[in-house]
Amino acid sequence: MTQHDPRTVYLKDYTPPAYLVDEVRLTFRLAPHATRVLSEIRFRPNPEAASRDFFLHGEGLKLISAQLDGAKVEPELVEGGLRLDAPDAPFTFAAEVEIDPENNTALEGLYRSSGMYCTQCEAEGFRKITYYPDRPDVMAPFHVRIESDAPVLLSNGNPGERGEGFAEWSDPWPKPAYLFALVAGDLVAHSDSFTTMSGREVALKLWVREADIGKCAFGMEALKKSMRWDEETYGREYDLDVFNIVAVDDFNMGAMENKGLNIFNSSAVLASPETATDADFERIEAIIAHEYFHNWTGNRVTCRDWFQLCLKEGLTVFRDQQFTGDMRSHAVKRIDDAMLLRAAQFREDNGPLAHPVRPESFVEINNFYTVTVYEKGAEIVGMLKRLVGDEGYRKALDLYFERHDGQAVTIEDWLKVFEEATGRDLGQFARWYHQAGTPRVHVAEDWSEGRYTLTLRQETPPTPGQSDKQPMVIPVAVGLLNPNGDEVVPTRVLELTEKEQSFAFEGLAARPVPSILRGFSAPVILRQVQTDETRAFLLAHDTDPFNKWEAGRDLARAGLLAMIEKGDGPDAGYIDALGRAVADESLDPAFRARLLALPGEDELAQAIFEAGQTPDPTAIFEAREALRHAIADRLGDVLARLYDTHQVTGPYSPEAGDAGRRALTNAALSLLSLTQGGDRARAQYREADNMTQQIAALGVLVKLGEGAAELKAFEDQWRHERLVMNKWFGLQVGAAKPEAAAGIAEELTRHPDFDWKNPNRFRAVFGALAGNTAGFHDASGAGYRLLADWLLKLDPLNPQTTARMTQAFSTWKRYDEGRKRLIRGELERIFETQGLSRDTSEMVGRMLAD
Ligand code: BES
Ligand code: ZN
Repeated sequence: MTQHDPRTVYLKDYTPPAYLVDEVRLTFRLAPHATRVLSEIRFRPNPEAASRDFFLHGEGLKLISAQLDGAKVEPELVEGGLRLDAPDAPFTFAAEVEIDPENNTALEGLYRSSGMYCTQCEAEGFRKITYYPDRPDVMAPFHVRIESDAPVLLSNGNPGERGEGFAEWSDPWPKPAYLFALVAGDLVAHSDSFTTMSGREVALKLWVREADIGKCAFGMEALKKSMRWDEETYGREYDLDVFNIVAVDDFNMGAMENKGLNIFNSSAVLASPETATDADFERIEAIIAHEYFHNWTGNRVTCRDWFQLCLKEGLTVFRDQQFTGDMRSHAVKRIDDAMLLRAAQFREDNGPLAHPVRPESFVEINNFYTVTVYEKGAEIVGMLKRLVGDEGYRKALDLYFERHDGQAVTIEDWLKVFEEATGRDLGQFARWYHQAGTPRVHVAEDWSEGRYTLTLRQETPPTPGQSDKQPMVIPVAVGLLNPNGDEVVPTRVLELTEKEQSFAFEGLAARPVPSILRGFSAPVILRQVQTDETRAFLLAHDTDPFNKWEAGRDLARAGLLAMIEKGDGPDAGYIDALGRAVADESLDPAFRARLLALPGEDELAQAIFEAGQTPDPTAIFEAREALRHAIADRLGDVLARLYDTHQVTGPYSPEAGDAGRRALTNAALSLLSLTQGGDRARAQYREADNMTQQIAALGVLVKLGEGAAELKAFEDQWRHERLVMNKWFGLQVGAAKPEAAAGIAEELTRHPDFDWKNPNRFRAVFGALAGNTAGFHDASGAGYRLLADWLLKLDPLNPQTTARMTQAFSTWKRYDEGRKRLIRGELERIFETQGLSRDTSEMVGRMLAD
């Protein structure tokens, strides 16, 4: 369906812009329903362009008047913009347009959120503000004047003149329109400052509604840490006099890196110990860092076109991962990233929505801000670094910034700096950007007379539109252990480039135990025949923290699959090995908490499907529950001891050490409650002085079916805190028994505070429903129907969020005929709806097409 959609845009059709922009001047006369935008844009012919077709994007604009070099003109209004006969010489185009921010529910362009004006322009939202060449390869300095009686008026760059009812801003750094931002409203600032490495003073401000001023301190610290880290790690300094961040309640995404004026979903920046969990604090630190890091990877060096999205997003995610590792724990961060990659990216790569990290076509670019572009994009950067080494990586990045500062570039440009800086040919490596699908790496071993040989064979299954897969360059980090547990061969990176390749290790005294894909050195699925004894051995002895964790995970997965497929009981050997590992006081509590997390239901469903069987969501749910019961039963003493001895005392701090202890005690609490009931959780709920402890206890009680009183108390306590109420909505659906999940979600949609036009609130309920795998896939089809009903309701208002959430259905082909028929029915019902958005119709079309 995608292939034949007339709205499809192709990478191969890229042509340079006919005109470039030397300068932009914008005046905003803000009014809720009739904002006037006056523009003056200095154009000049692009010597690189073949045509002189003068076209400006524009959507939903009321054109009041237009002038070319001061003379009134009447442009031809066409689908998606305007056309005009323009000279083959520099000229100024001016226009006045009217827009209606109050009725902008799509949250793209200029809109209103809780009474303030704000913007979201990436990827193609600037065209909803004024007529402009809205493409990232057109970069220009912007001067902005805002006229409004709102007390705070902000835009990109440095502040200029301001007075009664107006403020001016100038951004000297040429930027694409997608980085434009404007904010106006009744806001207060949490202020600080930062001195850059060359000694320049930068004023830092975090702007919020007055009621939220107490939730800014952590975000501000995160910003300063990010600024210092980018100087120390990448030599990158901030380049304006001010850095503003604004928190808004209605936002489709997490946050946006507009030059000098980042705009954040309030959930991605506001935090206090009472209202935010450890996980929220960590996420906030990472998102602040991510958006700040875009100042160089995205803003100073930007993308030539939207097919190159991974150029900024993959690299910036990689940078924020490095940052979090440095601030917290590299081992734990790697595990968390691998869990996310497997749960979300492998899921995408193995279904109808699979696409290359650099796609070749799209209908709606907003649908390509995917886990593949982001997380697999980041993995590719990590592999490059592993292949060229730390020094080579730094040299390449220095060259990248030096050569491409102020430019809009491509993945080819990116790879070229690595080739030139390191002398390495990356021709084959580039396949990671072009070829979709998750490679499988099969392992065979051979041992004879002191010589150990590993034979690795790779294959990538077909994905939509790509059936013939070529071998990839796969860095496989390997270490070898002696049977006594000592490491005989420390980590070395094998480069698998052929379809099949052997690697020999000589001079070994005894047959070693291999530890393969250490640190999750490549985003692949490892296929290895391993006994449970070997896995338990690696769980006990591996020196690589990732593979130590992985061994436990493999044991759990194998045990669960045997329970589901063969009706086996829980594997006592696994539970004992797990018990020894979590009781090992030499290990980081955060790491031990990860050991206690079982593979997710969706991951197990994928594994069963791949083995040629049909996953039964109920059976998967029940097997996990049974294993959790068995762990609680057999490890009761160990878990109770962990719970008691790792409690954090003293005032709450979100730092990694305390957070790790809370993660461990709460993992223990949740297991213990299965065999010992809710008393511990009730006590913890009562005594909690922070949201991490409070919500963990509440979740346990709700899961036990004993949480009614606490749910009510929680609601009374937090009714006026939107972000906390999102947790309250989500938890009830997420912790619901499978057969009850859809009903509870339905009931919550009738709650007076279910403000469905707010993306956070909508996602709280329906994201939780989709995440309750057995509940969503309940055989009645009630979950499918409810989600489809609400997606159809949201689509006319907010296509972006709707389209994103259709992904709940993307695994439908795995399931039995009954579920398949039900989901197909819902997808067709959505697809056939009159006036469906381009966003949603592309997504649903792709899911039906495969
Ligand atoms: N540039 C994006 C925000 C964005 C995404 C704008 C899609 C328009 C469409 C921003 O840098 C980003 O990637 N934000 C992430 C969080 C980040 C930590 C991965 C987000 O919003 O989820
Ligand atoms: Zn980003």
